[in-house]
Amino acid sequence: MTGETCVATALCPGSFDPVTLGHVDIIERSARHFDEVIVAVISNPQKTQSLFGLEERQELLEKALSHLGNVRIEFFKGLLVEFAKEHGADSIVKGLRAVSDFDYELQMAQMNQRLSGIDTFFLSTSPRYSFLSSSLVREVARFGGDVSGMVPRHVNDRLVEMFRGKEA
Ligand code: PNS
Repeated sequence: MTGETCVATALCPGSFDPVTLGHVDIIERSARHFDEVIVAVISNPQKTQSLFGLEERQELLEKALSHLGNVRIEFFKGLLVEFAKEHGADSIVKGLRAVSDFDYELQMAQMNQRLSGIDTFFLSTSPRYSFLSSSLVREVARFGGDVSGMVPRHVNDRLVEMFRGKEA
């Protein structure tokens, strides 16, 4: 022991376009296991069909997570493991919804481990949210479907406002 204070910092990475209650659940549970959690929002995603701009994604996340004192939101681009090293994070936390998530998530976890030694911890998604994804929420909301109960209330309000009268 060197007497240094050791702070366990984890990253919860994603696009968060928009944040769902599934994300909030994983972040809340991560915040119970780690001293600090950084919600790492990718700012140059491969996916081109984004709905919310970065500033609004951040605002929606901040409001959804304001009750968590050890959680902060940061943007990153490039490799997640480089961002992790720059921020002293030695863990990544991901939610696993179903077996279908597993292959890709395992591959990414192994690549990230190989690149940096940083470990990925998987939390099982609450069964209440196992069907949920931001892309499905975007699609359902776009066509006027009801996504309340799947996203925080202020996110639902924003989606309703965005698509009011625009169902195509
Ligand atoms: O919410 P998403 O879109 O499923 O999040 C995916 C994300 C951002 C976590 C993933 O694409 C990622 O980590 N991208 C950063 C680039 C990177 O490090 N790629 C190598 C992964 S092994």
